[in-house]
Amino acid sequence: MYLDCTFGRGGHTKKILERLSSKGQLVSFDLDDSAVEVAENIKHQNFRFIKTNFSKIDDFIKDNSLTGVLLDCGVSSPQLDDPERGFSFQAKGPLDMRFNQKQEFTCKDIIEEFSEKEISTILWKFGEEKESRKIAKFIIKHREKNSIKNTLELAEIIKAAKAIKTKKHPATKSFQALRMAVNSEIENLSVCLEKIKEKLIKSGKLVIITFHSLEDRIAKQTFKPKINFHEKDIPLIHKDVPDKFKISKIIYPPPEEISLNPRARSAKMRIIEKL
Ligand SMILES: C[S@@+](CC[C@H](N)C(=O)[O-])C[C@H]1O[C@@H](n2cnc3c(N)ncnc32)[C@H](O)[C@@H]1O
Repeated sequence: MYLDCTFGRGGHTKKILERLSSKGQLVSFDLDDSAVEVAENIKHQNFRFIKTNFSKIDDFIKDNSLTGVLLDCGVSSPQLDDPERGFSFQAKGPLDMRFNQKQEFTCKDIIEEFSEKEISTILWKFGEEKESRKIAKFIIKHREKNSIKNTLELAEIIKAAKAIKTKKHPATKSFQALRMAVNSEIENLSVCLEKIKEKLIKSGKLVIITFHSLEDRIAKQTFKPKINFHEKDIPLIHKDVPDKFKISKIIYPPPEEISLNPRARSAKMRIIEKL
C-alpha cells in the first residue's frame, strides 16, 4: 500500500503507477479541485484518488499497512502560475491563496482583519522575514486609508516597507508565510506525520520533500527517538519500546534538475525508514 499525500497534477503518482505491481495499491490525496480533474483521467485499477486533507489519512487507511508514503510539501507550479489563485506576487490576482477552494478563510481575511501583531507574527514565524514588523505596520497603515485589493498591491506595499535589498523579490518570504498561514500548513503536516509514523510497516519508507526549514524540522522531530526518562530505572517491556526510524541526510536536487526546473532549487528531500 502506497500513499501520495500531495497529488498536485499527478507527476509523482503517475511515476509510482508505472512501477506498481499487480498486488500494489496506490491512494493519492489532494484538496484542490483542479487535482480532482487530473486524477479522474488516470485509469488504473489499483489507484484511488481521495479529495481530502492529508491530515485525515487515518479516515481511509485503517490498518498499519503503508509500504511507502510520499509527501511533497507546499504549492504546485500550476497553482502558482494561475493568477486567479492569488499565490503569486508577480501577477495580479485576488488575495486568496487557498489550496482548498471550498475553505472559507482566505488571505484577504488576514490582510483585512488581523492585527498588526498577528500579521507580523505570521511573517516572522512562517517566512522568517526579518522586517516582519515593518511590513505589518505598512499593511495596517495602508488599509486604514484604502483597501488592499489584489496581490500586486500587496507586493508593492511589502516592497515599500523593506529596507534590506536581496536577490529575491522582496515579497517572496511574506507571500510564502501568508500561504502557509491560510492553509494551516504546519499544523496539517504535523498531524499527518504522526499518523504516517503509526501506519508505516517495518521497513516502510516516507519520502518527504520540503521547502521550508520549519517543515524539515518537524519531519526530523517527529521521527527522532523521544527521550524516555524512565529508561535507566525501569526495564522496558518489549511492547513499550517505541518504533525506531532511520532518517537520511538531506538530499538536494542535482544541478541538471535545477536547470530544468528552477523552482526545485530550494527543495530538500529526506527518506525516513521504520526499522
Ligand atoms: C508541491 S505540490 C505536489 C506536486 C505533485 N508532487 C506533482 O507531481 O504534481 C503540493 C500539493 O499538495 C496539496 N496539498 C497541500 N496541503 C495539503 C493538505 N493538507 N492535504 C492535501 N493536499 C494538500 C496542494 O494542493 C498541492 O497540489
